[in-house]
Amino acid sequence: MQEPRAGEVLVRALWISVDPYQRGRMSQARSYAKSLELGDVITAQALGEVVESRDPRYEAGDLVVGQLGWQEYAVARAGSLRKLPPGLEPPSLALHVLGATGLTAYFGLFDVAKVVAGETVVVSGAAGGVGQIAGQLAKLAGCRAVGIAGGPEKVAELQKVYGYDAAVDYKADDARDAVKAACPDGVDVYFDNVGGDVSAAVYPRLNVGARIAVCGQVSQYNLVRPVPTFHPALLIVFRARMEGFLVTDYAHRYDEGIARLARWVANGDLRWHEHVTDGLENAPRAFIGMFHGENRGKTLVKVAERT
Ligand SMILES: NC(=O)c1ccc[n+]([C@@H]2O[C@H](COP(=O)([O-])OP(=O)(O)OC[C@H]3O[C@@H](n4cnc5c(N)ncnc54)[C@H](OP(=O)(O)O)[C@@H]3O)[C@@H](O)[C@H]2O)c1
Repeated sequence: MQEPRAGEVLVRALWISVDPYQRGRMSQARSYAKSLELGDVITAQALGEVVESRDPRYEAGDLVVGQLGWQEYAVARAGSLRKLPPGLEPPSLALHVLGATGLTAYFGLFDVAKVVAGETVVVSGAAGGVGQIAGQLAKLAGCRAVGIAGGPEKVAELQKVYGYDAAVDYKADDARDAVKAACPDGVDVYFDNVGGDVSAAVYPRLNVGARIAVCGQVSQYNLVRPVPTFHPALLIVFRARMEGFLVTDYAHRYDEGIARLARWVANGDLRWHEHVTDGLENAPRAFIGMFHGENRGKTLVKVAERT
């Protein structure tokens, strides 16, 4: 085990995050971050307990979140860690609703898509980590929320648990007809987590002035060659705006986003589901399962109990 030096902290992982972006790190294709080399630790956010601190800001027993990777112990620069607010229950919320996942939904909807009350917002990947929050935020903003997910259980949950107004099962239904039926007034905002054929079913329903927030394209991550389904002429027809974003673009506003999300959680306005796999050794299985839609809500691996 590495020893922390001055300004560093040794952290024991309790929970690790499993995220689609990690697939991009395993590819040599050009991206916004460096690819992993064989033997590298998988890049990941993790929640852990401080074991030893060589920085006055932390002491043994503190719960922290940071980019600690898929490993049991990590040495991190103290400045790169975030301390959990005291009493946060469950603490794992810091890895999703009150972490990067929730912030992605928050900035994607409010800053990129600029949702306005009364609009119809369609969310793809709606039953996943980002999607479960995005739909609820759209409802809190006074919008009509339509979710797209795979399978009858997920689709039922979208309406019953997360309050979506309508839901489409892209695996069972003719997605184009189903989106048309679910959006009688067209689509003002499309929060896209998946891309591919699912998105192709949404584009024809866009309204003039629509915004497409391109959050993720998970349907494409395992393909050698992505399949284009978008024609730029649509932007002319609908005078629409399509914008990709990274949650890290908003790092300077995380405190604002977390404060608002925490208020909604405290008021009981946000619900969530954690899809938990036990044991660090099972993280690859959880990761692959996520690409087959095995997860409901945020995919997490529980590594250890708190001491
Ligand atoms: N821009 C950013 O900063 C940012 C930050 C975080 C996440 N993201 C992106 O947001 C998206 C969601 O991330 P997440 O962590 O919340 O993952 P997630 O939605 O919890 O898990 C991925 C889901 O994608 C769906 N899926 C897999 N293959 C598919 C396919 N071929 N077609 C349609 N759906 C498919 C599955 O749901 P079904 O069962 O419904 O198919 C699966 O549960 C990802 O694209 C991710 O890259 C972006």
